Amino acid sequence: MSNSIYAERRARVASQLGKDGIALIPTAPERPRNRDSDFLYRHDSYFYYLTGFREPNAWLVITGDGKSTLFCAPKDLEREIWDGYRLGPEAAPAALGVDAAHSVAELDAQLPKLLENRDAVWYPFAIHEGLEARVGGWLNQVRARVRYGALCPEQQRDLCAILDEMRLVKDAHEQDIMRRAGQISARGHVRAMKLSARMLREGKDVREYHLDAELMHEFRLGGSQSSAYNSIVAAGSNACVLHYRSDTAPVRNGELVLIDAGCELDSYASDITRTFPANGKFSGPQRALYELVLASQEAAVAATRAGARFIDPHEATVKVLAQGMLDVGLLDKNKVGSVQDVIDNRSYFQFYMHRTGHWLGMDVHDCGSYVEPSQVGEVSERKDPLSGEIIKNRPSRVLKPGMVLTIEPGIYVRPAEGVPERFHHIGIRIEDDAIVTESGCDLISRGVPVKPDEIEALMRG
Ligand code: GLY
Ligand code: MN
Ligand code: MN
Repeated sequence: MSNSIYAERRARVASQLGKDGIALIPTAPERPRNRDSDFLYRHDSYFYYLTGFREPNAWLVITGDGKSTLFCAPKDLEREIWDGYRLGPEAAPAALGVDAAHSVAELDAQLPKLLENRDAVWYPFAIHEGLEARVGGWLNQVRARVRYGALCPEQQRDLCAILDEMRLVKDAHEQDIMRRAGQISARGHVRAMKLSARMLREGKDVREYHLDAELMHEFRLGGSQSSAYNSIVAAGSNACVLHYRSDTAPVRNGELVLIDAGCELDSYASDITRTFPANGKFSGPQRALYELVLASQEAAVAATRAGARFIDPHEATVKVLAQGMLDVGLLDKNKVGSVQDVIDNRSYFQFYMHRTGHWLGMDVHDCGSYVEPSQVGEVSERKDPLSGEIIKNRPSRVLKPGMVLTIEPGIYVRPAEGVPERFHHIGIRIEDDAIVTESGCDLISRGVPVKPDEIEALMRG
């Protein structure tokens, strides 16, 4: 893969540091799981975005003059026999396009020298444990030299401010990976749906982990390195637990299954939710709520386009859900009033308690401000009808082509007084991934059906 993408990104960062600025970007540490086993290693997203380098134990330094220096693990034949190949600092400049590279063992010796005579040091705030203290230690060493005429940076600045804006708009290379990630994940969902119906037809004891296994099979088969987040495979009433973790519960005939799962491909996440009848046939009440959630998602999709605000799909969703909750009898209009009252008083919150989407990218809940940068000063206040809290609002982000977000409305019905029994324990979410375009959005996760008839047809096969 060409390094020019990463070099171009580093140049864009350098141009924003000021000519005497310097930026420090460590990758993620390895994390112990138990005794001497580590969790599967995942590099830091910012670091990877600027290097394309996946080894642990590495730092990138960018200076305002456009130069970049990598610190990485030195070649060590004995360690490489145990842990695998290391690029090493000698090969790094040619392989990664950086201007210089050193062993990471030299970091503490080199950093004070690199920080000397700079006016600002940039690094990602509140991401890497202990980084602030480490930078402080290096700055202290620079200060010890000021009496010899050295200058010590007077400003520490959050590099996330620069990188989050860059990462928010995905370039063609990123969009291509995200499309492929969406296709692989969709195949995992298809496979899980089919297995559920087939095992139930064969009278087998189906468990949530059986469906999880199908997802993982397709993810790895498609070349994905891992799940982008812990898969949720929630049978029956477990679907009403928003962050349920796939477990051992039985998948029963007559119940719904909610699967929220997506693969990570080459550092980019996908994030898909489908809800389907375990045996392949929706009941009347299940279908009624499913069609309502789907209609609310369609309204959100129609509201997603360049020039619209990030909040618009959420507001479109809420409008449809509020009306639908009154129509199907989840909410009683004699108690909650009109559809506008349901929206204004947030009565829908009993059954729909999350937002309709989030940015998606290298991280499943990706970075990027949800406030329009040009309007941060335009603050308004409103009183939340449920908590009574005063909330400060700023204008929502204006969508641009290349931004990627999820669209994921849902309905979750816990038994409560006045809630019709036919809907009890039903949890439904439908989640797709959308790339914003000039005229609308491209749904990149639709390799798995979403219409109830199409889901039933798939599961019959
Ligand atoms: N899977 C996490 C989410 O949908 O936001
Ligand atoms: Mn999501
Ligand atoms: Mn999700």
